[in-house]
Amino acid sequence: MDVIVIGAGAAGLMCAIEAGKRGRRVVVLEHNPQIGRKILISGGGRCNFTNLHTEPGNFLSANPHFAKSALARYRPDDFIGLVRKHRIPYHEKTLGQLFCDRSARDITSMLEAECNAAGVSIVTACRVDHVEAADRFHVRTDSNSYRAESVVIATGGLSVPKTGATSFGYDIARQFGLRIQPCRPALVPLVFDQFPELTGVSLPVVVRDGSVAFAEKMLFTHKGLSGPAILQASSYWQPGTELEIDLLPGINLVSLLRERRADARPVLSSLLPQRFAKHWFPESTGPLSDRQIQSLSEALHGWRVRPTGTEGYAKAEVTAGGVDTADLSSQTMEAKKVPGLFFIGEVVDVTGRLGGFNFQWAWASGYAAGQAV
Ligand code: FDA
Repeated sequence: MDVIVIGAGAAGLMCAIEAGKRGRRVVVLEHNPQIGRKILISGGGRCNFTNLHTEPGNFLSANPHFAKSALARYRPDDFIGLVRKHRIPYHEKTLGQLFCDRSARDITSMLEAECNAAGVSIVTACRVDHVEAADRFHVRTDSNSYRAESVVIATGGLSVPKTGATSFGYDIARQFGLRIQPCRPALVPLVFDQFPELTGVSLPVVVRDGSVAFAEKMLFTHKGLSGPAILQASSYWQPGTELEIDLLPGINLVSLLRERRADARPVLSSLLPQRFAKHWFPESTGPLSDRQIQSLSEALHGWRVRPTGTEGYAKAEVTAGGVDTADLSSQTMEAKKVPGLFFIGEVVDVTGRLGGFNFQWAWASGYAAGQAV
């Protein structure tokens, strides 16, 4: 073998296809019985496979410049070209997010077909437990052993362990002396032990965490807060800190309440979801002074919430942090001090925002390594 790719997820399969197209002899080793398990559950089963507005600013990393080169060399249009070639119907849902019309299985079938066409072998139900560097790399699985010039670690992050997520990639990075940026659950619901009675209420908000702001929907859950605005903010949130939430974005509450000074309740009931308005304003507020109007407006436009934690890796869409990009080439994803060893996809300290960016990083980093292995 020339190349061993560990992990048949989005990044590993893309890398294998590209390396196979270059005539490299490639094997992909996957411990699940099927390939692309996370692709299959992504985007509610329809896989939000890319985002038309992909740019480096949509990614979090200790080095915000690292992802630029790979993202520039494999664009959303390149992946869309592949989707079109396989006649997979898709649509833009919102904000540049592209989803399959039918099912995420269209994407895994496409990747499998591309692997077959490029002569890539895929071995499933085979867990890699050892990688060693001698004259070539030796890779041992629970059933076999392989040797190759290059090894690509595409084992993903820690989120949703029931899909087969392991810490294997981080363990290998440490074994070969690469540094790790601390890992944490990201794109994850936040725990906030108040308002369980509002479970299911959803409203458009702007959530701010320091210098970032997300204008999307927020959802009250039985454990706290979720919905796209909260998931986005969770990637930036640090334990112990507050989020600021504008519950009435774009609405000039002060002038509306001055017109209806006698009672704020009907105004608020018309602006907020019924259950939310009823809970926060169970009774008539009575006539309000200018000062009361001002403070009510400030409370609703700048609701301050201090979450007690996140719902953890079980509910996180991705893992923030990972293999330190300072130890990798941004052109090829190869470890600077270990020729032939590559890290791609979520295991690397590059984390996309919600909306197809994480897959775009998987495709782009897989493509970059696929040209170099
Ligand atoms: P990925 O996790 O996909 O693949 C790693 C593979 O390595 C796995 O198949 C695993 O079994 C295998 N593996 C691990 N250890 C191994 C070992 N020791 N031996 C052999 N194999 C091993 N993103 C997005 O852009 N749009 C979306 O719609 C969604 N939706 C979404 C929903 C949910 C519920 C989750 C959890 C995540 C998403 N994501 C997403 C995120 C996206 O799924 C994720 O970022 C990519 O799948 C990462 O691709 P990788 O190839 O890096 O890892």
